Amino acid sequence: MADRYLRFTATAPGRALTRRLGLPQPAALRRWTVEHPSLTGSLVHLTAGESTLALAPVLARTGLPMGDATAADSPAAVVLDASGVRDVGSLAAVHAALHPVVRSVAASGRIVVLGAPLDAGDHHQAAAQQALEGFVRSLGKEIGRGRTVNLVRLTDAEAAWSTLDFLLSPKSAYVSGQVIEVGARSDDGPPETGDRPLAGRTALVTGGARGIGEAVAETLARDGATVVVLDVPQAEADARRVAERLGGQALTLDITAADAGERIAAELPDGLDVLIHNAGITRDRRLANMPAERWSSVLDVNLASVLRTTDALLAKGTLRRGGRIVATASIAGLAGNAGQTNYGASKAGIAGLVRALAPRAAAEHGVTVNAVAPGFIETRMTAAVPLFIREAGRRMNSLAQGGLPVDVAETTAWLAHPASGAVNGQVVRVCGQSLLGA
Ligand SMILES: NC(=O)c1ccc[n+]([C@@H]2O[C@H](COP(=O)([O-])OP(=O)(O)OC[C@H]3O[C@@H](n4cnc5c(N)ncnc54)[C@H](O)[C@@H]3O)[C@@H](O)[C@H]2O)c1
Repeated sequence: MADRYLRFTATAPGRALTRRLGLPQPAALRRWTVEHPSLTGSLVHLTAGESTLALAPVLARTGLPMGDATAADSPAAVVLDASGVRDVGSLAAVHAALHPVVRSVAASGRIVVLGAPLDAGDHHQAAAQQALEGFVRSLGKEIGRGRTVNLVRLTDAEAAWSTLDFLLSPKSAYVSGQVIEVGARSDDGPPETGDRPLAGRTALVTGGARGIGEAVAETLARDGATVVVLDVPQAEADARRVAERLGGQALTLDITAADAGERIAAELPDGLDVLIHNAGITRDRRLANMPAERWSSVLDVNLASVLRTTDALLAKGTLRRGGRIVATASIAGLAGNAGQTNYGASKAGIAGLVRALAPRAAAEHGVTVNAVAPGFIETRMTAAVPLFIREAGRRMNSLAQGGLPVDVAETTAWLAHPASGAVNGQVVRVCGQSLLGA
């Protein structure tokens, strides 16, 4: 499971040899730790076009000292507000703003470009704003040194503070090349800025006994949630171990049971705030060799049970107002993968579910619905992949390495945050900007 190549390239001879051979140069990523919760260095705020966003107070909340683009130091983060770019001519201001600073951004630093929603009535504005997407994705692929580049489309800076806080922190180490849309402010109450934003809230994680689900449970508990670790009866010992460590509760049931939603509701008479659909399985075979059972078991665990339990918990009112649903897609599902017609169908279905349900769940229940789409994540599942395919999976992304379960967990925690009410209907890849799909 250990990425020996990453360790080798971190040594001086390893770096010299791999550079001479033209091999990938992954940089050790800086992730969140209790000791180092923020990026180190300044934040440079640039503007292209005429912006109406009130960004200053939101950027101040990141705690990063404001820097100067002309100073000689290496900024940890650059925010370019391009929300006012309305035509192709003013895209020159994007180049003019970033060209002088891009080289100096620190290793594991962040570039966040802010855009506006595309205006269907103004094709010049739409062209210029869509251009930002190609710009961000291209810069993400060339910038290197563990640096990430993302685009946030927004109309209200305050509604986007939890998103900017996440993207401008070490928590988003493996999120790059993404386009995230943030809507209007929701009425979730005052924004939560403490380091336990989920205190007093209950979160249920399906498939929480190990792998990515275990990391999600840990991270939500770190953020103050009381976690319920749900897994199959065969994984009861692991589910209990995780729940006890986190001061939560284990719940053993098969999520494909017809009455799974009712049983969860019965276990949680006081309600639920955060529902994480993480349980998932693969049963790979090419379609020509795939028996119906392999097809249906994957569709049932990964998609049908997600629909059934979501419907049941919304209908029963178990999910409280201000609640959050985060489902788990996969880049293999979005881009397609040989041998995974069943898995790809199930994970693409998650994206359809999220986009269609999000506006209705918000309007009728005050609940947001989003998905994470992991790329190559270092887990037991990917450790079992044959060596050469595993190496290809690890290197074929802009950061030239696999992600860790905690990267998916941090992204989930941002989507579950009480201040993320304006983030709805998004499918966010946690894939180091994988070459699979966009
Ligand atoms: N590891 C990756 O690289 C990767 C990439 C993309 C997507 N994903 C997705 O992330 C999620 C977690 O993946 P992982 O690598 O941690 O997998 P994993 O196999 O390590 O863990 C999955 C957990 O789900 C549980 N589970 C399976 N079927 C269940 C059921 N019917 N009811 C209740 N629990 C059930 C398992 O017991 C297990 O504890 C899955 O949805 C997977 O498809 C993983």
